[in-house]
Amino acid sequence: MGSSLQGRDILRTDTLRDEELRLILSTAERFEEWLKAGSHLENMRGRVMASLFFEPSTRTRLSFEAAMHRLGGGVITVDDPMTSSAAKGESLADAIRVVEGYADVIAIRHPREGSAAEAAAAVSIPVINGGDGTGQHPTQALLDIYTLKKEKGAIDGLTVALVGDLKNGRTVHSLVYLLARFDVRLIFVSPTQLMMPADITDNLLARGIEVSVTEDLAGAMRESDVVYMTRIQKERFEDPTEYQRLKGAYVLDMAMVEQAKSGITILHPLPRVNEIEEEVDGYAGAAYFRQAHNGLPVRMALLALVLGRE
Ligand code: CP
Repeated sequence: MGSSLQGRDILRTDTLRDEELRLILSTAERFEEWLKAGSHLENMRGRVMASLFFEPSTRTRLSFEAAMHRLGGGVITVDDPMTSSAAKGESLADAIRVVEGYADVIAIRHPREGSAAEAAAAVSIPVINGGDGTGQHPTQALLDIYTLKKEKGAIDGLTVALVGDLKNGRTVHSLVYLLARFDVRLIFVSPTQLMMPADITDNLLARGIEVSVTEDLAGAMRESDVVYMTRIQKERFEDPTEYQRLKGAYVLDMAMVEQAKSGITILHPLPRVNEIEEEVDGYAGAAYFRQAHNGLPVRMALLALVLGRE
């Protein structure tokens, strides 16, 4: 019998159970070991993933596709909405119903919040949310947690500063719900215009998570074991002048790292624009490229689990 994840849609992190999170992480560890050993995997032989990306992506789309290939499966893809019939006005639900006839699982990214849930409601095959507007990005959060465990050994006891566009950043919206399962302290660092949505902060406080809010990045870094930088999300701004005003709000450089708590780990879901100076890349705790690479075993685990092929 498969796990409780078999046949499931992965749309948000707050609906995952603790034991499901543990299963995803342990399955990803196993796949990572097999990848390192150069094993040839056939878990997904005869299975096809449809990769439907209606917004730009490098890491999420390519790591999902690489994950399927590494598991011996096949991939069909839309990586530009202008080359699909969305450009002719086809609804998302119609497109998804058609794709259900070609694939066994769908990974989707779309600019509208709620679009992944809408897609999942239209079909009976598993749908994995690769980012829905300013909503959630659950697979990024899962690889972030996987990375934290690898980098820090344990998550309990950590103080984590989340920095930047907390209003529009879907990665942090998903990540805080996973961090909330551990004994953590969270510091939200943003300009007032880009604060974490109140419903998310209220949810965390109701669960007893200690949350502080500040605009002071240097101060937060003196108290934090981990700093999770995010990009100011240009594409979500209605007023371009507001973006120009805020885009340089936080730029992490080596002088700030040297003043931070010793051993601080620096994460970023990437892409970065100007939030982390390149001089920081050589710092041992700069884990953002390792973090991006962890997307492969984590997405292999998710695909295998939802299709019962782990
Ligand atoms: N972190 C992330 O989602 O990157 P992409 O937009 O390149 O997929």
